[in-house]
Amino acid sequence: MSRSYDLFAGAFEQRLRNLALAQLGVREGETVLEIGFGTGHCLKQIAEAVGASGRVCGVDLSAGMLEVSRRRLDRAGLLDRVELHCGDAADLPYAAETFDAVFMSFTLELFDTPEIPVVLGEVRRVLKPGGRLGVVSLAREDGVSLMLRAYEWCHQRLPQYIDCRPIYVEEAIADAGFHLDYREKERLWGLPAKIALGVKRG
Ligand SMILES: C[S@@+](CC[C@H](N)C(=O)[O-])C[C@H]1O[C@@H](n2cnc3c(N)ncnc32)[C@H](O)[C@@H]1O
Repeated sequence: MSRSYDLFAGAFEQRLRNLALAQLGVREGETVLEIGFGTGHCLKQIAEAVGASGRVCGVDLSAGMLEVSRRRLDRAGLLDRVELHCGDAADLPYAAETFDAVFMSFTLELFDTPEIPVVLGEVRRVLKPGGRLGVVSLAREDGVSLMLRAYEWCHQRLPQYIDCRPIYVEEAIADAGFHLDYREKERLWGLPAKIALGVKRG
């Protein structure tokens, strides 16, 4: 998907990513991790926000996505402050309490339900005390719309093409030991999406 991903993920997704990044509020000099960075649009914004004194790490399972992102950062002259890693979010290759903030956009909802707490546990481990987690995700909610039902039907039958599905994102973040500092509901192609900011409890 790495070569065609940007044709499918367009302006609506970018608006939600930008809202989530604004809530995360990355500051100059911070050390920030993005999990599932895809084609690297947010990585570039994060690298600009941390400035020359900051550091950005990115983990993605796909070598293709890593290469597309690496080229984007190189063109922008930001590669020197970014470290990319091809790996699994369920087993992050970083020491405990490394990051001031972690960002995930349209990635948490890809994981199987039992894996979500594992990934969030890893995020918690690598965040410093008081560190922030910003997530934007398709969201499950009570009261199912026709659109949501149709989407979930497709996901169950064609998981190789429709690989993500709406999840109870706020509950997952709170259950993983974060204080929910901000939440906002939006819509993406008629589906509920949520932006959530969690702060690691001490
Ligand atoms: C739907 S894309 C989202 C990309 C980007 N964050 C965005 O907002 O467009 C999900 C990304 O998560 C990556 N991914 C999937 N499973 C992963 C895992 N177990 N660990 C790390 N990254 C993973 C995929 O390779 C892909 O780049």
